[in-house]
Amino acid sequence: MADFVGAVDQGTTSTRFMIFDHGGREVGRHQLEHEQILPQAGWVEHNPLEIWERTCSVIRTAMHARGLRATDLAALGVTNQRETTVVWNRRTGMPYYNAIVWQDTRTDRIATALERDGRGEVIRRKAGLPPATYFSAGKIQWILENVDGVRAAAEAGEAVFGNTDSWLLWNLTGGVDSGVHITDVTNASRTMLMDLETLDWDDELLSFFDIPRAMLPEIRPSSDPKGYGHTLSGGPFGGEVALTGDLGDQQAATVGQVCFGVGQVKNTYGTGNFMLLNTGTEVVRSRSGLLTTVCYQFGADKPVYALEGSIAVTGSAVQWLRDQLGIISGASESEALARQVADSGGVYFVPAFSGLFAPYWRSDARGAIVGLSRYNTNAHLARATLESICYQTRDVIEAMARDSGVTLDVLRVDGGITANELCMQLQADILGVTVSRPVVAETTALGAAYAAGLAVGFWRDTDELAQNWNEDKCWQPEWTEEQREKGYAGWHKAVRRTLDWVD
Ligand code: G3P
Repeated sequence: MADFVGAVDQGTTSTRFMIFDHGGREVGRHQLEHEQILPQAGWVEHNPLEIWERTCSVIRTAMHARGLRATDLAALGVTNQRETTVVWNRRTGMPYYNAIVWQDTRTDRIATALERDGRGEVIRRKAGLPPATYFSAGKIQWILENVDGVRAAAEAGEAVFGNTDSWLLWNLTGGVDSGVHITDVTNASRTMLMDLETLDWDDELLSFFDIPRAMLPEIRPSSDPKGYGHTLSGGPFGGEVALTGDLGDQQAATVGQVCFGVGQVKNTYGTGNFMLLNTGTEVVRSRSGLLTTVCYQFGADKPVYALEGSIAVTGSAVQWLRDQLGIISGASESEALARQVADSGGVYFVPAFSGLFAPYWRSDARGAIVGLSRYNTNAHLARATLESICYQTRDVIEAMARDSGVTLDVLRVDGGITANELCMQLQADILGVTVSRPVVAETTALGAAYAAGLAVGFWRDTDELAQNWNEDKCWQPEWTEEQREKGYAGWHKAVRRTLDWVD
């Protein structure tokens, strides 16, 4: 068997390709950002063609740098920013519209209307999700209603929908000539269109958004020994690689963190933060503002579910300091700037740019910086930004404890911001628990590789994967209980200021 497994991680700000060996160690990678298209307040789009082009480019560069060929890969996994919606023409391969990104709030009226007449409760019960702009269904509806010709083409099965996993899998397997139109259970569970129990598209949910079933992909397991298809000799690998893993990025990170046991939790710090608690094969409903979602399904096994706390804006708040305010020139500078001061000087920053997600689910919230005095500087704002990431995480952990009774001793973390040592120390201080980072911080790509590799026998089982997990560093809480509770009370006061902002 070939020595490596590859994984494409198509994220919100960038696309990367990574190659792993049998020990789960990284042996190669390349990554490229793509444009964030912001046509008006609250709208966020990506160009699907640019994403496909960047995907090809990162694959070619990483494979070439290591002198690898398609035959060196036992399998390929794909993982992706979830919910982001692409509708394209399967005959021409052209998107009808830019991808509407999960952070986009243009569908707030669609989401609000669902709450008024009881449909919201049906969505909660069947899909495990609260009606919100976050998920795909409203975005598909918006494209059907606002882009000429799409509805008729969708009814004819010519205009098709996918999240970016489906878009890439279709292109990787030959696009207009031979592309497969599929997704996996984890991605499907983020659309508001799949019933969590049947794992199939649900006609009643489809009717709420007037979405023709013909435009939806086939739903498959996240790790599939039957395989979804192969890459082609004309594609970026220059040969055939079996596509056998597909899962949403946060579920992939849960697999990469080997959270296979009921009650295990991971927290990923990306554009937003996403904490998932493995709840096993039973569907657990949240009473505290968490989502019920599919965590993974391996082959013919029963699906495993999770409770998820999704936070819309964490890493992207640091990017905002860089791109919109220009007070840092790179994300890593946020740590140096924040270290110039001993605390945030009374400043709280609530980055509710896309409303507030878990556990609040308030699309009417907008961001606020409060507690300012003449004394405050950029350094206080940088520190308040890092603290906002940690306070939002605490909000989610409190909700998880209420729903599941699970109280954490250790929080397993991964993702870009975990390189920020100050932020990780603040996280331990604000939570009052140990924060632990694994050696491989790119657990999202690793999880997609694990799903793909399990399907072809590259890895035997989840026990073997668990042996690959090693701690790199941990942080212990240093704040007193009084500091912790005072800081958290201030955070809630600041959050209250952001609510009811949009009529
Ligand atoms: O639900 C959105 C999430 O999948 C995006 O993750 O890492 O691209 O910010 P990320």
